[in-house]
Amino acid sequence: MKNFIFASILFVLLLTVNAVPHQLNKRAITFGPCPTKGTGSIDPLNVTIGSDTPKPGTSESFSISGTLTKKNIVQNITLLEIAYKDKHGQLIADPYNQTFTDSINAGNDFNASLAVFPTPELPDSYNLEVMVGDPLNGTTRLNIFACALATVG
Ligand SMILES: *[C@@H]1O[C@H](CO)[C@@H](O)[C@H](O)[C@H]1NC(C)=O
Ligand SMILES: *[C@@H]1O[C@H](CO)[C@@H](O)[C@H](O)[C@H]1NC(C)=O
Ligand SMILES: *[C@@H]1O[C@H](CO)[C@@H](O)[C@H](O)[C@H]1NC(C)=O
Ligand SMILES: *[C@@H]1O[C@H](CO)[C@@H](O)[C@H](O)[C@H]1NC(C)=O
Ligand SMILES: *[C@@H]1O[C@H](CO)[C@@H](O)[C@H](O)[C@H]1NC(C)=O
Repeated sequence: MKNFIFASILFVLLLTVNAVPHQLNKRAITFGPCPTKGTGSIDPLNVTIGSDTPKPGTSESFSISGTLTKKNIVQNITLLEIAYKDKHGQLIADPYNQTFTDSINAGNDFNASLAVFPTPELPDSYNLEVMVGDPLNGTTRLNIFACALATVG
């Protein structure tokens, strides 16, 4: 009986020890540069998000900073856009966008914090793209000035 209890405790301990590395394996989402698009002299962005794994239906916070080297940020015109895309590059949901509330000339740092709600239903692997740019004349396409990309899964 004693042995059985001992074995049970050992088993539970083993399970506990085993469970830890699995949680550590869930890497935090890290953003890197976007693959250059078009003629691209696209500036990088520093992006951090509030949780390691965005949860569908909840709000996700983003902190974005960087410096545009060539383009100016124009108040109420320049957009910050956040897009969830599947591994084929197709949008999972409408991109989220927000205009800058201040004009910031090229060469100066900018910061932005925002919450995107709701996080869409996500497949196991997806990309999270953060872009700064001006809308191309009255379309929903952007002339991208800066960009960061995270690949998840
Ligand atoms: C990102 O942050 C690091 C560390 O604070 C800084 O050295 C780097 O210049 C930043 N990059 C951009 C694009 O802002
Ligand atoms: C930008 O939008 C805000 C809020 O709608 C407005 O108060 C401000 O005058 C606008 N600025 C410009 C330059 O259009
Ligand atoms: C952006 O945030 C960093 C850290 O909080 C701060 O040092 C920097 O001055 C901010 N830049 C601007 C343009 O607000
Ligand atoms: C964008 O606007 C410019 C100037 O107003 C115009 O010449 C050009 O044809 C427009 N492009 C598109 C795709 O509408
Ligand atoms: C910004 O988002 C709004 C609301 O989803 C959308 O109607 C608009 O077309 C978007 N603008 C651009 C330039 O993507």
